[in-house]
Amino acid sequence: MSFETLLTQLEQGIFTITINRPDKLNALNKTVFDEINRALDEVEQNPEIRSVIITGSGTKAFVAGADISEFNGLSQEEAKALSRRGQETFFRIEQNAKPIVAAVNGFALGGGCELAMSCHFRVAAENAKFGQPEVNLGLIPGYGGTQRLVQLIGKGMALELLMSARMIDAGEAKQLGLVNYVTAPEDLLTHTRSVLDVINSKAPLAVAGCIKAANAVFDETQNGYEVEVDEFGKVFLSEDMKEGTAAFLEKRKARFTGK
Ligand code: COA
Repeated sequence: MSFETLLTQLEQGIFTITINRPDKLNALNKTVFDEINRALDEVEQNPEIRSVIITGSGTKAFVAGADISEFNGLSQEEAKALSRRGQETFFRIEQNAKPIVAAVNGFALGGGCELAMSCHFRVAAENAKFGQPEVNLGLIPGYGGTQRLVQLIGKGMALELLMSARMIDAGEAKQLGLVNYVTAPEDLLTHTRSVLDVINSKAPLAVAGCIKAANAVFDETQNGYEVEVDEFGKVFLSEDMKEGTAAFLEKRKARFTGK
């Protein structure tokens, strides 16, 4: 797999996608979106991939936003299409059956913060900075930021950040529940991998069921409790459920196969 704007690496089941435009602070242009979608095809199709890390190249930025140079001269319809393309790509991340984690290594602004929020959870380096600075440009977030920021940190704090464009550091992001862990910059990927190693040792269908049911909380077209019942029923008949319960009773470690 070769990309112009991404670096990818598969190691022990963990597929790392690094957005690689460091001279533009990894801003999301059309090529980056196309390539993230191609990388997601690979995530969905390759059984060797158990989970995913998304990070940014260099030490300064995770992603400093949508590429502002592509905004010039768009019609209203084109602007809406730009927003939809971002939303659709980030839905693919959020709804992925495999865990996808953002390792935030610097600025996560605008579309960068939205990308991180579409991941299943976030780990931040001490130098990470989060913000939705769109109002500085006379804009609002267009890739799901108005929705996911409210979901993750609550309406009052989200609206303050959205309306003021105030940037928060990793410590405040942790306090608000936007990130799960804060690490030294040099430990960011190792720590993120160690969290995923634990998840990767569990039954994949059960992990996927947790993602589906948790996402249903925020989907008004579904009853989350019913989704939970359905997923519970599905995994109940899996081989991994038989293996997991047998291993418990036999006092040994389970060997899950994803079936
Ligand atoms: N879109 C396009 N280019 C961007 C970008 C973006 N969102 N963010 C940064 N860049 C580019 C800069 O234009 C600059 O390119 P150049 O060297 O060709 O001039 C390069 O990345 C480095 O950025 P620079 O602004 O010089 O770095 P800095 O350390 O002075 O400031 C930021 C860092 C993150 C504070 C600043 O780049 C910034 O405010 N970026 C925009 C953030 C934003 O509004 N995002 C939301 C977009 S909707």
